[in-house]
Amino acid sequence: MQHQTLKHDSVLQNEVLESLLHSEAASVFDGTLGLGGHADLILKSFPNIKLYVGTDLDGQHLNAAREFLAPYKERFVGVEANFSEIDAVNKAHPLPRPTCILLDLGVCSNHLDDETKGFSHQADGPLHMAFSTNQEHNCEKILNEESVGGLTKIMRDFGEEPSAHRIALKIVAAREEKPLTRTSELKEIIEKSVHPRDRKKALTRVFQAFRMATNQELHHLSLALDKSFDLMESGDRIGVMSYHSLEDRVVKQQFQHRSRPKTEATKFSLHETVEPAEISLITKKPISASQAEIERNPRSRSVKFRIAEKI
Ligand SMILES: C[S@@+](CC[C@H](N)C(=O)[O-])C[C@H]1O[C@@H](n2cnc3c(N)ncnc32)[C@H](O)[C@@H]1O
Repeated sequence: MQHQTLKHDSVLQNEVLESLLHSEAASVFDGTLGLGGHADLILKSFPNIKLYVGTDLDGQHLNAAREFLAPYKERFVGVEANFSEIDAVNKAHPLPRPTCILLDLGVCSNHLDDETKGFSHQADGPLHMAFSTNQEHNCEKILNEESVGGLTKIMRDFGEEPSAHRIALKIVAAREEKPLTRTSELKEIIEKSVHPRDRKKALTRVFQAFRMATNQELHHLSLALDKSFDLMESGDRIGVMSYHSLEDRVVKQQFQHRSRPKTEATKFSLHETVEPAEISLITKKPISASQAEIERNPRSRSVKFRIAEKI
């Protein structure tokens, strides 16, 4: 599918250019290339960038981005990979390391409009929910094979859903009649399990939870951050945009932990620094979208953008 037929408004464009990039930036690893909106912006604004490597799990996005970014073909490479494979992807490309890393997490707007992905409860589609079309482990498998305890845990851990146990019991009862295959079936189970007043929130929370479980999103985020900090050298920057509290928590905790010197109580002093801080926080508080951006692009409403620099 062509870029023009897919739509996504890149979030916090000025903030990416002004706070994440700096004049020394020589190469970028964009873990969530999407349709290439941020990539186009960065490549256009920073002609000094010699290599821009973008990964995406969604092959359709990758093809659209490759086509859109064709004017930069000397400097741009698109790779179908998980961003948690940053170390392997980085080895395969000529510059020693990315001096700037960008992760803009979650789904693109067109993912929600595409019912074949199964991300949205607003249209009926297969229970796929994987970013990658090649992935075998999809939401249908989880819903039809997990135990009540496993389903409850997914909805609690990744959706903070108060009715998780009740919904899990109804999922198991429904699949005993017939395996679940459609998002409309999951939607109906959720709607029957909660008070009408809570339906909208429960649908959002439960669909989010199963998407996160299907793609193991927090696991890959955490892995990508660990590997990124290993690759980064002094002055290199990483910026992560998250859209809900669970993923922001992973980023915040990693950033805070690495921005503090490690201390140990010893015989001679109560706390002795054993390792200096690894990073400094460029954003003490996360950057949010302005009111004008939220009005233009409602998806930016919940964004939290945190940036750190290796010391
Ligand atoms: C919010 S969109 C990125 C939009 C992009 N910054 C732009 O301006 O067009 C997120 C993209 O990341 C991809 N994605 C999500 N998790 C991923 C992962 N673990 N590894 C690689 N790509 C991932 C999704 O398929 C989606 O295309």
